[in-house]
Amino acid sequence: MVRNAVEGDFQAISDLALNCSPMITERNSIYHIFTKFFQNTVFIAEIEDEKQIKRAIGFLIGFISQKNKEDAYIHLLCVHPSCRGMGLATDLIKNFLKVVIEMGCKRVYLITKPVNKTAIDFYTRMGFKKNYGYKTDTIDGEELVKDYNGKGEHMIVFQKFLSD
Ligand SMILES: CC(C)(COP(=O)(O)OP(=O)(O)OC[C@H]1O[C@@H](n2cnc3c(N)ncnc32)[C@H](O)[C@@H]1OP(=O)(O)O)[C@@H](O)C(=O)NCCC(=O)NCCS
Repeated sequence: MVRNAVEGDFQAISDLALNCSPMITERNSIYHIFTKFFQNTVFIAEIEDEKQIKRAIGFLIGFISQKNKEDAYIHLLCVHPSCRGMGLATDLIKNFLKVVIEMGCKRVYLITKPVNKTAIDFYTRMGFKKNYGYKTDTIDGEELVKDYNGKGEHMIVFQKFLSD
């Protein structure tokens, strides 16, 4: 089941994020800010065990740009390793896209590290375009936006155009 996050979800998100290498992890305060102030665009996937206890198994943290309301951004997306390949990340993205489309967004941005081949394959399958409109350099055989996040932090910048 996928639902919007509530403020009390931040600790579960923080615990789950520890299983999400090579994705970055944040301080608890960042997860707390997102689950408190960005609930419309933060989603949790959870399962219920035989005792009806719910457990978070995936999350998506995103937001809509304050500067340009047509731009949305996915900051973090993670599914617990034991639950991958079951379509959960696809469901989380679909929930996010539905909300941002309803709110008038035209583009969704996100970045991935070049080492994260799984995420690169996943976002490409989801219709995101690599480095569109960005100047790229070929580094270790990969087209990257050099120093995107500071010196030596080269990234792939993905964009999805919501009219596609
Ligand atoms: C990337 C990630 C979120 C995908 O989650 P998931 O729930 O396994 O993805 P889905 O099951 O929805 O898969 C969707 C599609 O991507 C493909 N895919 C998923 N994992 C893949 C892999 N390891 N290699 C190739 N393709 C893969 C699936 O084949 C599927 O395509 P299909 O529908 O044609 O079968 C998950 O691997 C993850 O949490 N990784 C660690 C955190 C991370 O790197 N996040 C992204 C960067 S912020």
